[in-house]
Amino acid sequence: MTEESVEFAGQTITRAELIYEGKAKQVFATNDPTIIWMHYMDQVTALNGKVKEEYAGKGALNSRISNLLFTYLADQGINHHWLGSVSETDELVKKVAIIPLEVVTRNYTAGHFVSRFGVKAHEKLEPRVQELYYKSDELDDPFMNDSQAISLGFASRQDLSTVYALADQVNELLVAIFNKINITLVDYKLEFGRLADGQIILADELSPDNMRLLDKETGKSLDKDVFRQKQGDLRLGYQDVLNRLEESLK
Ligand code: C5P
Repeated sequence: MTEESVEFAGQTITRAELIYEGKAKQVFATNDPTIIWMHYMDQVTALNGKVKEEYAGKGALNSRISNLLFTYLADQGINHHWLGSVSETDELVKKVAIIPLEVVTRNYTAGHFVSRFGVKAHEKLEPRVQELYYKSDELDDPFMNDSQAISLGFASRQDLSTVYALADQVNELLVAIFNKINITLVDYKLEFGRLADGQIILADELSPDNMRLLDKETGKSLDKDVFRQKQGDLRLGYQDVLNRLEESLK
């Protein structure tokens, strides 16, 4: 990537070195130590990166969906890292120290919940299930319980209470918006980070790469499961999700 600068909130922000490359995003430092530059890639992976493909335009769809959902959550009082878009695929976010835990919320059975516990798919889970995974590509993001996370120093008990409470607030709001657009929010992954003052806020992205979304009428998947299960072009579902969100949130 070439050097790039944008005007943002009265300040020139220049993209600097790559600090992290995930499976679908690149994260760059900027000339402002409190701001990070995120680039959404067109790459899509499954089986923790073992299966990989490029879908032109997928990054832009995810960036747009994520931006709409972060803006919606902010309007409802949720603190998060998103600051603004700088292009179709790039955005600026607040620099946080990412807590190395993936927080999965399940409203219905699916995926690993089904394979792990031998239950039927798409059964409602009441109350919803919250799970932690250790964010580690080398270890395939293993399941982790609270005492393991606390003992390894990733989070205190108080931090975990904050994270679970925030995840519940986010869940209530996301379920509501997806219900409104006739989509069932089956499950999804969130990540959280700490600001310099210690405050824990929502980070990462909110897109069909990290969620299971089912059309309420047809039962069809509108998320990355289309790719995982080789059911065709995942962009059709992502575009549908984006169109419905834009219509509902405009
Ligand atoms: O695979 P599993 O059933 O545990 O996934 C639960 C939810 O979390 C799915 O929506 C999946 O897309 C998301 N997830 C994720 N990143 C991971 C693991 C799961 O976004 N590393």
